[in-house]
Amino acid sequence: MDKVMNPAPPTGKSTITISESSPTYHHNQFFLNMSTQAPATTTPSLHPLPLTLIVAATSSSLAIGRSGGLPWRIKADMAFFARITKRVPLTALPSTPTLSPTPIHNAVIMGHKTYLSIPPKFRPLPDRINVVLSRNPDSISAPDNVLRASGIEEAVKMLQERGDVAKVWVIGGGEVYKAALEWEGAKEIVLTRVENEVEGCDTFFPVRLGEEGEWKRVPHEEFEEVVEEQIPRGVQEEGEWKFEFQLWRK
Ligand SMILES: NC(=O)c1ccc[n+]([C@@H]2O[C@H](COP(=O)([O-])OP(=O)(O)OC[C@H]3O[C@@H](n4cnc5c(N)ncnc54)[C@H](OP(=O)(O)O)[C@@H]3O)[C@@H](O)[C@H]2O)c1
Repeated sequence: MDKVMNPAPPTGKSTITISESSPTYHHNQFFLNMSTQAPATTTPSLHPLPLTLIVAATSSSLAIGRSGGLPWRIKADMAFFARITKRVPLTALPSTPTLSPTPIHNAVIMGHKTYLSIPPKFRPLPDRINVVLSRNPDSISAPDNVLRASGIEEAVKMLQERGDVAKVWVIGGGEVYKAALEWEGAKEIVLTRVENEVEGCDTFFPVRLGEEGEWKRVPHEEFEEVVEEQIPRGVQEEGEWKFEFQLWRK
């Protein structure tokens, strides 16, 4: 299993546990030929950089967190999260072989609290460029390979300027989802909709999903094309948990 997020205890703080000891998906075989990219002297445009949010939230209230951690432990969802956030889209691959390959990766943007909720030995999340947001980025205690940014706009700019980034995922928590949803590049939400009622949640996904809102559910076949894998249809069950993988777009 690639990633394990533990549910939050009734009290306490850091609760996400991520085990990356035996990754099932190796995306590092993908390389980007820098010669196919814009010259280093070109300043990339800030718009549009598509951002995809990925979140697990309850159906009823879109609850996502409790006491600094996840309110559930759903292994299938953790594995799904790890696989698809690592997978470099085929469209990001060079069309011709390259002599001096530069590896490309996806990026994950997260809030300072979400970063700190990952146990130190499992962070930064491997095989992805980790970007942590803080209003005081110098306060972030993290290895040098973690990018620090003072907001979504700065994070987007940093990633655009690198030239080795494929897909950009926003992985939470609530405050960072809100900032991302206000960014015009946020067009897709990969949602694990948890059917169970969960007590005591204190963090919520700040969006309206449904008939009346601007976000529309994408047909299953198109969802599979976007994430480049087969997704089980309908409500899934794992122990007490009932959940469904969905894609929403505006
Ligand atoms: N269900 C899910 O899919 C999911 C996914 C991720 C997280 N979660 C849960 O969500 C909860 C954490 O969410 P949260 O909302 O409390 O915290 P968060 O969004 O993870 O982090 C908040 C912190 O990030 C920084 N930040 C946030 N927005 C910013 C912005 N626009 N510009 C600059 N810095 C910004 C600030 O750091 P500074 O204080 O350093 O300025 C802020 O205190 C936890 O319970 C976690 O388990 C759930």
